[in-house]
Amino acid sequence: MSKPILYITRKEHFNAAHKLYNNAWTPEQNEAVFGKCANANWHGHNFDLYVTVKGTPNPDTGFIMDLKLLKRIIKEEVIEHLDHRNLNEDVPFLKGVMPSIEHIATAIWQRIEPRLPENCRLHKVLLYETEQNFVEFYGEFGV
Ligand code: NI
Repeated sequence: MSKPILYITRKEHFNAAHKLYNNAWTPEQNEAVFGKCANANWHGHNFDLYVTVKGTPNPDTGFIMDLKLLKRIIKEEVIEHLDHRNLNEDVPFLKGVMPSIEHIATAIWQRIEPRLPENCRLHKVLLYETEQNFVEFYGEFGV
């Protein structure tokens, strides 16, 4: 009998400050594109992060992946680096990157994916910036 493939998700949370501002543009252009996120003196968001892993359950544990391990990986690779930080200034792996949720989610994927056990794969990184605005990344890279 073929094995069932399931998706399991761990939710985490972090608070961080950022500013979306392109120095090559005028203040008016920045305001027009980024709105409140262009505010010169920073602002914060309560980010909700959902990390979904895909795999088949291990017959001995019934788990796709031990969620304690997934929790630890997310904490070590993401939360400890982003929580209560300024995403423009404080985070080496976001240095020189516009800290939009698109870019943050991509960086989160790249940090978590290499640390997963062999029998499961990272399926999705879902990152909420507000209740209304969120981004999903499935590890796809285009041209
Ligand atoms: Ni913002």
